[in-house]
Amino acid sequence: MTTILNRTHRCNDLSEEHIGQDVTLCGWVHTRRDHGGLIFVDLWDKHGITQVVLNPEIDEIAHEQAHNIRGNFVIGITGKVRARPDGMANTKLKTGKVEVYVSDLKILNSSKTPPYDIWEGDTVEESKKLKYRFLDLRSAELQKNMKLRYDITRIMRNVLHENEFTEIETPMLTRSTPEGARDYLVPSRLNPQSFYALPQSPQIFKQILMVSGFDRYFQIVKCFRDEDLRNDRQPEFTQVDMEMSFIEEDDVYKLMEATFAGIYKEILGETVATPFPRLTYREAMDRFGSDKPDMRFGLELVDLTETVQGTDFKVFAQVLKSGGQVKSINVKNSSKVLSRKVLDDLIKLANVYGAKGMAWIKINPDDPTDLQSPITKFFSKEMIADIVSKMDGQPGDTLVFVADKPKIVADALANIRLALGKQLGLIDEKQNKFLWVTEFPLVDYDEKEKRYTAMHHPFTAPLEEDLDKFQSSPETMRARAYDLVLNGNEIGGGSIRIHQNEIQTKMFELLGIGEEEAQSKFGFLLDALQYGAPPHGGIALGLDRMVMLLAQTNSIRDVIAFPKTQKATCLMTQAPSEVDAKQMKELKLKFDLS
Ligand code: AMO
Ligand code: AMP
Repeated sequence: MTTILNRTHRCNDLSEEHIGQDVTLCGWVHTRRDHGGLIFVDLWDKHGITQVVLNPEIDEIAHEQAHNIRGNFVIGITGKVRARPDGMANTKLKTGKVEVYVSDLKILNSSKTPPYDIWEGDTVEESKKLKYRFLDLRSAELQKNMKLRYDITRIMRNVLHENEFTEIETPMLTRSTPEGARDYLVPSRLNPQSFYALPQSPQIFKQILMVSGFDRYFQIVKCFRDEDLRNDRQPEFTQVDMEMSFIEEDDVYKLMEATFAGIYKEILGETVATPFPRLTYREAMDRFGSDKPDMRFGLELVDLTETVQGTDFKVFAQVLKSGGQVKSINVKNSSKVLSRKVLDDLIKLANVYGAKGMAWIKINPDDPTDLQSPITKFFSKEMIADIVSKMDGQPGDTLVFVADKPKIVADALANIRLALGKQLGLIDEKQNKFLWVTEFPLVDYDEKEKRYTAMHHPFTAPLEEDLDKFQSSPETMRARAYDLVLNGNEIGGGSIRIHQNEIQTKMFELLGIGEEEAQSKFGFLLDALQYGAPPHGGIALGLDRMVMLLAQTNSIRDVIAFPKTQKATCLMTQAPSEVDAKQMKELKLKFDLS
C-alpha cells in the first residue's frame, strides 16, 4: 500500500480525464466549508487548488477528522475523482470541473491561525507581510515572481553555457572595491582591527580571471552596497556578472541582445526587436535630460539657449549671463488638459529638482495667434514667433520651459517629461523598449571634494581617440562604458577595461589616488596587469530589476524571497541585531556611544 506522502498528482493536475481514478494529494488547507453532512476543503499547493469532499457515507473516520482541520493545516488525502454536479463547476479553477471524494485523510500538521488572511493579502500592511514572509511567500503573486526569477536565471545560464562561459565563484570576504557606495564591513577575529569588505561587485576578481586565461566568466552573485534605498535598490542585490577576453563593445551588445530576445521569447512569447537602439550619453542627455530615458514616448527636450539670446525676461537673461541653458518641451495637444493646477504641480516638481520655476505658453486650439502665458509679455513678438517656430508649436500645444545650469535643466525637464508621459497616458505599458547608452564621460568633477571621480569605475577604458587628454582636458574624455536601459530603468552596466598598467596608473593619478594608495588598495590588480592581461570587458545585469520589470511590479521587494526594508532591516529575522558581549570581545570590538 502506498503511503499518503506518495502523491499521485499535484493540486492543479486533475480534470475530467481523471474521473473514476483513485488519487493521492498533499497540500495546505486553503479553505474549509462545513455544509453539515458534507465538508468541502480547497486543497492548495504551489501548482493550484483542488476541491476535496468529505462525506460520512464514504468514510466516517475521515469525515470526523475533518471537523478538526482549519485553514493552513497540512493534510494528505486519498480518494476518487468525480465530476462535480451539474452547475457546480468552478470556472476560476483549472481543476474546477472535478472534485475528489476522500476515503483516507491524514493530518500531517496543524497551523496556528495566521495573523492575516494570507490568500487575501492585498490590503495588508507591507510590514506585517514582511514579518510573516514565510506566509506571504505562499501568495500567488510571490510564487509567480519566484518562478519567473528562476526561469530567467535558468535561461541566462543556458545562453551563457552555449557561449562558452564558465561560472566561477569569487570571495564574499574580500577587500573594498570602488563601485561608489559605502562598504559593508566584517571584522576579522583572527586579525584584530582588520576588516573584510563584502563585495560591491566582483569587478576586480573578474578582471583577474581574464588575466588567468578563463576567456569567458559569469556568476550570478550577491553584491552589497550600503547606500540610500529606493524602490529599485536593495542593500544586497544580485548581479548576473560577466567578463570576456578579446572582445569589443559590439560583442557585449550582441550577446545581451540574444539573451534578452531568448528570455522574452521563452517567458512571454514576445519577439524583441534587435539590435537595440543606441544613444551616446551626450545625445541621451540633450534629447531626454536623462542617461536612462524611457523610449516608449516622445516629449523630447529642445535647446532654446540660442533662440532666447538677448531677451529682456530677467529670469532667462540672468541664466544666460551665467552660462546656463534654456530648454523646452512641446506637449502636443495638451492646452485643454494641462489645467492651472497641473501646471502648478509641474512647477513644484521642477522645484524638487532644483529649478526655480517652470514657464509655459499655451497655444489656443482655435486661434494660433492667441497665446496664454505668464511670460509672453516679457518677450518681443519676433522672439515669441521664433520660439514657437523652433518648438514646432501648433494650435492646442503647450510649451514648457526651464532655465538654469545644464544639470538642473536636465533633471527638472527629465522628471517633468516622465510625469507628463504618465499623466497624459502616453506610455504603452505593453511595449518593451531597450536602449544602449554609450560613451559615458570617463570622469565627473566633484565640486565639494574638488576632485575627479570615475563615472563608472576606475578600471573603465577611455575611448582610444581621447587617450591624449589625460593632462589637457580630462573632463571631456569619453569612456568605453555602456548601460542597458529598459523602459527608463538601468538594468545593466559595463565597460571595456583598461588592460595596460600604464593607462591604469594614469587613471589612478587623475582620480587623485596616489601611488602608495593604489598599491595598497589595488596592488594585486596592478601586478596582474603586468603579467599578460588580454584586452577584456564585460557587463553586470541587475537581476532583481530585470525580474521586477518582467513581473510588472513597482517594488524590488516583490521579486526577492527575503528582502530588506528601506531601512535595510529584515523584519522576519530582525537583522541587523545586537550581538553578545562575548562575540564583541572575541572580535576585540568596542562601541563608543559618545
Ligand atoms: P553597476 O554598478 O552599474 O556595475 O551595477 C550593475 C547593475 O546592478 C544593478 N544595481 C542594483 N540593483 C539593486 N539594488 C542596488 N543597490 C543596485 N546597484 C546596482 C543595476 C546596475 O545596472 N562592476 C560593474 C559592472 C561592470 O563594469 O561589468 C557594476 O557593478 O541594474
Ligand atoms: P517670476 O518673474 O519669478 O514670477 O517668474 C515668471 C514665470 O517664469 C513664472 O511662470 C515662473 O514659473 C517662471 N520661471 C521662474 N524661474 C524659472 C526658471 N528658472 N526657468 C523657467 N521658468 C522660470
